[in-house]
Amino acid sequence: MGRAGIRRPAARPDRIPIVVAAGVAVLALAACSRGPDLQPVATIAQIMETTVEPVSNVVFDAAVWENGVQVGGPKTVEDWKMVQANALMLGETANLLLMNGRAKDQVGWTIRTQAMRDAALEAARAADARNTEAIFAAGTHIYQSCTGCHLQYIPNLNAPPKKIE
Ligand code: HEC
Repeated sequence: MGRAGIRRPAARPDRIPIVVAAGVAVLALAACSRGPDLQPVATIAQIMETTVEPVSNVVFDAAVWENGVQVGGPKTVEDWKMVQANALMLGETANLLLMNGRAKDQVGWTIRTQAMRDAALEAARAADARNTEAIFAAGTHIYQSCTGCHLQYIPNLNAPPKKIE
């Protein structure tokens, strides 16, 4: 939004109001294109428990091996469609996590959420192709996106026991 203004070489004082006005106009347009105001309803913990965790588990369970033999996993076209749908729902939760009031900041949180969405879309494509190896790889990327965000945003998670703040 304000990025164009920030990157300019030191603006002359008489230019500043113009840059600010342009920024406000961009913000106003962005607000319009977003449609009605969205109000968060559930907590992040509730979204994690009821949606993010169960739908990602469906993706993880699509590619599990024990002693070199695949266990469970989708078999029919319908099974694969459900894996795909769950992957897409994981991608959709990225939108919920990015809503105002939930996003913890506009930088790391956005990047972490996009990583989860990208991995979820990768899983959806793998399910569409009914490709077990590809869904395993996508599951790894999903898992990395979970832990990446948790390490950054859940205070004291996996903190070294002797760490003195
Ligand atoms: C963009 C950041 C982010 C991503 C990505 C993310 N989480 Fe979370 N998760 C959080 C935060 C923040 C909390 C702590 C919520 C709280 O307690 O207020 C949390 C908490 C949780 C919890 C505990 C919920 C509870 O009962 O307190 C589970 C389970 C969980 N996440 C699973 C996952 C899984 C599985 C993934 C990946 C598929 C994932 N999360 C991806 C931010 C994230």
